[in-house]
Amino acid sequence: MEFSQEFISAAYIIAALLFIFSLAGLSKQETAQTGNWYGIVGMAIALLATIADERVSSVGVIFVAMAIGAFIGLRLARKVEMTQMPELVAILHSFVGLAAVLVGYNSYFEATHVVNNELAQLAITVIDPKAQIAMNIHLVEVFLGVFIGAVTFTGSVVAFGKLRGIINSSALMLPHRHKMNLAAGVISFILMIVFVQNGGGNMPLFLMTIIALVFGWHLVASIGGADMPVVVSMLNSYSGWAAAAAGFMLSNDLLIVTGALVGSSGAILSYIMCKAMNRSFISVIAGGFGTNVEVAADVDYGEHIETNAESVADLLKNAKSVIITPGYGMAVAQAQYPVYEMTQKLIEKGIKVRFGIHPVAGRLPGHMNVLLAEAKVPYDIVLGMDEINDDFEETDVVLVIGANDTVNPAAAEDPTSPIAGMPVLEVWKAKNVVVFKRSMNTGYAGVQNPLFFKENTQMLFGDAKDSVEKIFKAL
Ligand code: TAP
Repeated sequence: MEFSQEFISAAYIIAALLFIFSLAGLSKQETAQTGNWYGIVGMAIALLATIADERVSSVGVIFVAMAIGAFIGLRLARKVEMTQMPELVAILHSFVGLAAVLVGYNSYFEATHVVNNELAQLAITVIDPKAQIAMNIHLVEVFLGVFIGAVTFTGSVVAFGKLRGIINSSALMLPHRHKMNLAAGVISFILMIVFVQNGGGNMPLFLMTIIALVFGWHLVASIGGADMPVVVSMLNSYSGWAAAAAGFMLSNDLLIVTGALVGSSGAILSYIMCKAMNRSFISVIAGGFGTNVEVAADVDYGEHIETNAESVADLLKNAKSVIITPGYGMAVAQAQYPVYEMTQKLIEKGIKVRFGIHPVAGRLPGHMNVLLAEAKVPYDIVLGMDEINDDFEETDVVLVIGANDTVNPAAAEDPTSPIAGMPVLEVWKAKNVVVFKRSMNTGYAGVQNPLFFKENTQMLFGDAKDSVEKIFKAL
């Protein structure tokens, strides 16, 4: 069945609205599932409307492609572990980038095919200057679409390789790397002017594609593996812009809207992550943080106090209020299930227990929230940093489970610290702090944590899951 263009435009508007509702829903845990459904329904409407378009001739081919894609997608989504999510996202972005390159080339060759006819070319330039402008705009779209797509493609492949451990995760520090990146940008810009002025041309397009592929590869290769979450979110943004560029080339409004939504939400997410780490976006892109930071060995922080599970259980039994601040170590240990069991036990005893979540705790945006939701921790006891930071002073016990940088007082107290200025959970203000970790090793930023040496802090060494299980038994 084929539908008119008006009907399809209406379907696209509904789909675009559903995508916006979806994003709004996904911004809160309570509404995330509904948000997901809005997205699914929006995408279903978009696909059906596209297939029903009278200009689409090979519906059969589309169905076969969709069936293969759905099969692979379902298998991947079922198999993937939470910790592998960034690499899956990275490889999916590479497909968006590659698609934008292919759409760009296709739309360029189609257009050249039309204007290659000398008479048509003459008609465009002499008789209709408006058509000439439209042609130039189209050429810019093609050029930018291919450029962004190619950068996204190789950048995402490298990000995937680094996260998977196939490619060395340390930052590639080529001499004059910033100058090389700048040169790639400038040469590509000159090639675009040549391309548009000549009404097209295979050579500038091919040359730029090669430069953009190398540029994307180099851009991400020069960033240390630990900064990959920010890079993945940045590539997410690029993939959105690549899709929007493809939308312009295909005159598809929905693709433009969707691409812009992905592009801007990825950019906002990168910004939020950088702000929560107190780093500029440029410094992340320039690379290096967390890779070569040296721990100041000559600073005497004093002695730390060790404790054991039984003593922590006693401390908890006598507490009225407890805050748990989880971090990357809880994810590594997969301790979220016993942590919730312990929480339930404490609540049964009449103790007020809440969770304090730092915006960049773990290695993914929302990492801790997802883990806690997995373990079925109710949302109303999971609070963000800003909501809970004033409550530490009146708290009897804080359990720091596998967190380090996100609870480091140096960020607030030591202006020379590499993480100075980063907002942190002010756990040290509580009456008692228990830190769950395996050693005195530093966290992601590679800086020592004075919290471990404070008088009201006790260290509980060992795997976080084992330690929590032991406390649960002792309770
Ligand atoms: P981190 O500072 O990375 O510290 C995690 C701690 O967990 C380590 O000190 C480690 O100490 C401990 N640990 C590891 N495995 C453990 C296990 N099995 N049992 C117990 N403890 C274990 O964690 P954080 O406080 O969550 O901070 C996150 C960091 O990542 C921040 O610096 C943030 O800027 C950065 N980052 C986050 C994101 C996002 S979006 N979340 C993105 C990029 C960067 P031991 O080795 O001694 O056990």
